Amino acid sequence: MRDRFKKEVNKLAQDYTASIPFDKRLYKQDIAGSIAHAKMLAKQGIISDKEAELITMALTSIREEIEGGEFAFRADLEDIHMNIEARLIEKVGDAGRKLHTARSRNDQVALDMRLFAKEAISQTIEKLVGLQRALLDVAEANKDEVMPGYTHLQRAQPVLFAHHMLAYFEMLQRDVSRFRDCLGRTDVLPLGSGALAGVPYPIDRDFLAKELGFSRISANSMDAVSDRDFVIEYQAAASITMMHLSRLAEELVLWSSAEFGFIELDDAYATGSSIMPQKKNPDVAELARGKTGRVYGNLLALLTVMKALPLSYNRDMQEDKEGFFDTVDTLLSTLEVFTGMIATLKVKGEKTRRAAEEGYILATDLADYLVGKGVPFREAHNIVGGLVQYAVENGKTFKDLSLSEYKNFSSLFEEDVYSVTVASSIGARDVPGGTAPGQVAQQLARARKIVQG
Ligand code: ARG
Repeated sequence: MRDRFKKEVNKLAQDYTASIPFDKRLYKQDIAGSIAHAKMLAKQGIISDKEAELITMALTSIREEIEGGEFAFRADLEDIHMNIEARLIEKVGDAGRKLHTARSRNDQVALDMRLFAKEAISQTIEKLVGLQRALLDVAEANKDEVMPGYTHLQRAQPVLFAHHMLAYFEMLQRDVSRFRDCLGRTDVLPLGSGALAGVPYPIDRDFLAKELGFSRISANSMDAVSDRDFVIEYQAAASITMMHLSRLAEELVLWSSAEFGFIELDDAYATGSSIMPQKKNPDVAELARGKTGRVYGNLLALLTVMKALPLSYNRDMQEDKEGFFDTVDTLLSTLEVFTGMIATLKVKGEKTRRAAEEGYILATDLADYLVGKGVPFREAHNIVGGLVQYAVENGKTFKDLSLSEYKNFSSLFEEDVYSVTVASSIGARDVPGGTAPGQVAQQLARARKIVQG
């Protein structure tokens, strides 16, 4: 490989430019791509059937060597592509030397990355659905539990706990749809683009696409070798998913605190303190919240790598890998551990109910009560505002107020004001998407269908 040069490469320069420490992870994709390429070359009469067979057999045994930990990766061979090719030539000589006909490492690495990304996307979707199922299970198991719904982290209106869980189901459903979109644009075969301009051999790209499971072939060779949009898209979708998981993590941290006491995490998903024996810490949730930072960082890093690259391939693009692998690993492990954590958490229904009953959480419902008696909503809002102020000043809840105290604020209050309760509040929100039990039951059924289909 040093044919053109008068000197050996500087050792630091070699280590600096080598990608083998991290791109060896692409060995499976690289071998699959090379086997398909060899088959295609033989089919087109560019190499012989015998040569293709030798190549295929040798590549298969190289895969076994790698998986058996017997393969000696060499930094002087730069990357996974040259490591495998060199070993192939060692094994089968001239047949191996023909494999790189009608191919460049530029379309080769683009192919490997797309194959890797396609698999990562499928695994991501599968794990997203797994977490959705866990959310549905815990929602169904606690479908009668009520809790305060919050805005500004202030108790706002009572909701069903299941309704709250279904909100996360929806977020994850959008994530699934984003990864599916991303899959559609990843599912394009770049092989056959050569270094950048195409190749001067009668190759069959549609055959390659079929062999390797791609739905389409790329339309422009220069774009094909220089496009990493699919990696960026994965990372963007992953960032949004991590943002969702981080929000859920934050709620689990809050809810498992003594201040809220809404849930108890299973011991298997909590950790202790090295000094305070009473502590049961939500470290998994905290770390998911923390790891969101590196996933955002990986996205920004690659966007920055790509931002001013002239067409077509540039070595800068080798920097697409570590961040991408890290994001895939982080996202998959976060989804997996969350699935177990959600599946095992206990809802403390008595606590959530008490929190929903405390305070003035039914104020909106009292305003709606007056609206039912003909008061314009804005005026009803003012009246109940005065009522809340009075109750706060006198250290009373709505339940403690006498009817005559109510009547000081509006003569329209009657005995039935006492039938405004958490249950009536929740039951009244009987609109599609609302928190009334019948609506939530429908949402649960709809969600269950989605994850079964
Ligand atoms: N290791 C390289 C990468 O990941 C492979 C492509 C190298 N191409 C080249 N022209 N040097 O981008």
